[in-house]
Parts: sequence; structure tokens; C-alpha cells
Amino acid sequence: MTHFEMNLQAAHLIRDSVEAFEGIHDKPIIFEHALADLAMMTDEHLAMIIERAAAAGPMSYNLSTVDIDEEGREHWVQGLLSEDGKVDGHAVLDLIKAGKLWLQVENLYYLAPHLYGLLKRAYDELAERLPNFSYRNLYCNLLISGPEARVTPHIDVAEVILFHIRGHKRMTLWDPERYPVPDELSEAIILRETLEDIEIPEEWKSGGDSYELAPGQGVSFPYLWPHSVDNLGDLNVSLQTEYHHPATIRRYGALYANGLLRRRLGVEPKDTGPGVLGESLRAAAGLAAKKLHIDGGNRRQVLAAFVVDKDAPDFIRRLPPEHAPVLRK
Ligand SMILES: [Fe+2]
Repeated sequence: MTHFEMNLQAAHLIRDSVEAFEGIHDKPIIFEHALADLAMMTDEHLAMIIERAAAAGPMSYNLSTVDIDEEGREHWVQGLLSEDGKVDGHAVLDLIKAGKLWLQVENLYYLAPHLYGLLKRAYDELAERLPNFSYRNLYCNLLISGPEARVTPHIDVAEVILFHIRGHKRMTLWDPERYPVPDELSEAIILRETLEDIEIPEEWKSGGDSYELAPGQGVSFPYLWPHSVDNLGDLNVSLQTEYHHPATIRRYGALYANGLLRRRLGVEPKDTGPGVLGESLRAAAGLAAKKLHIDGGNRRQVLAAFVVDKDAPDFIRRLPPEHAPVLRK
């Protein structure tokens, strides 16, 4: 047995007691975990995963940088790690450290099965220890971002647990009870008509609850809670996970069905509140519609505006719009 396997066998991946997770589906929870030690996310390791992601192609990652347009406004644009599947992982990491790129590596179950396995174990530990905790559709990704990176306010269509591994970041969360998100917007995001980004009203800016995360800390937050992230001056590495449980599957299905009703028939949906019978019934319809692709299986089109290139200024080569591939995500 290797040293790593012995450590893993001995370790509790979640260090807090059960009580710390009380209300996990209703409020944000900050907790301590062992993944920062066990995942061994050295530069070498990160470079290897970046190279695998490049080889797997752009459906396996999201790579972004900030562009400034003629009027001086900032825009996030997406790009490619490589056009031929080859990339120098260390060069990409250096670029991320210089604050030029933000990278999310998806499909960890085959790009980094050891990380996926660790995360699944952490979830199994939660499911074993917490009464009424169960998870479905576990989705795991690796976030690598630079000292100045920011993720603007958005909502994720799942419950989220983020295991922070390297660096420091501030996460701001807005409780939808106090800062409601209109159902129409949640529906549009679920139906993939729009990106998850949301324009927050002016009065939200001084509100919300902020949490600073250091390596070894994690945050869990509930379904459809708007949030934003600011890195605090160093390279950030996090394992981000999303999951569903019966209540969120119901809510997802109901919003999906309501979204179709509103769009296809112009009907104003009723009984959208969580926990009501109407929600369960609509959820069944929405989930069926989704499975049958009645909505046309919407995918968003994203233009790949640049490619990482070691010979280009800042290692970023802009792709002329007529040659920029369109990714369907
Ligand atoms: Fe998010």
C-alpha cells in the first residue's frame, strides 16, 4: 500500500461534526476538509490535468479571459487551450498565475479519476453521517484561476459544494428569501436560453454575505442561490461539485415545466412554491419533457475567440471571427 493510500484510508475527508451541516439545504455552510492535503494539487499535477483537458478537447473545459472592447468595457470571452490537442500545461499555468486566464476542467471522472474518486468519497461520507442527506447526478470540476480573477454574480442549477485547495478567495452569497430571483430568470437559465450570469440590482451590491476561504476550507450552498467570487491575490485551485437531491430535482422539473408553459402557451404558471403538490406534478412533466428533448435540446453557442499559443504576445492568439469555432455548450 502506498503512503497516499494509507493516508486516504486513515482520513476523514470531512473534518467537521454532523452538527456543522445542520440546515445544509437551507443556508450556506463553511466547513473544514482534508482534500487540500490529499489531492496534492502541485503545479506538476495541475499541468498534467491541463494537458489531458487539451487533448480531450473544448467540450471538456471552459477557458476564459477578459477582453476590453473599443469603448473600454470588459467582456469575458472563451477560448481554446489548443487547436491540435497539444499544450504545455506549465505554460498555461504560468498564464493563469499572471492573471490572464480562468480555467474550469470538467469531466474529472475520466480526466482525473483519482480526484473524482476523492470527491465521491467525501460525498459518501456526508451521506453516511448526515441524516436525510442523499445525492444524485454528482458533477465534479476543477477550477484554476489567477490572483485577480473574479466570477460575476450567477446562479448554478444545482446544490454546490466547493472544496477549496490552494490560494484565497471571497465568496458572496445572496439569500433568495431576501434577494429574490424572478422565476422567469431561473426558467430561462434552466432551459438554457441564457447564461447563468445575472445582472444584480444596485441594492444587492452592498448586501449579501461574504465568506473568505483558505486552503482546506469548503463551502456548501443551496439551490439557486446567487453568488459571486473574488480571488484574493494568489493562484486559486478549487474542486467544485454540484449535485441534486429529491427536493432540487422536483424544483428543477417544476421550473422546467413552467418555463415551457410560459413560453409555448403564454400561460402564467401557478403553484410554483416549493413543497406543494403542484410542484411535484409539474416536476414529473418537466423532467419527462427534458428527457424527450421537447424543448429542442437547447445548447448555448459560444464562440472560441482565442487560442493559447506560446509564440503569441501574452501566449494568447486571437482568432479572427470568421475562423473562430463555435462551441455548443
Ligand atoms: Fe457558481
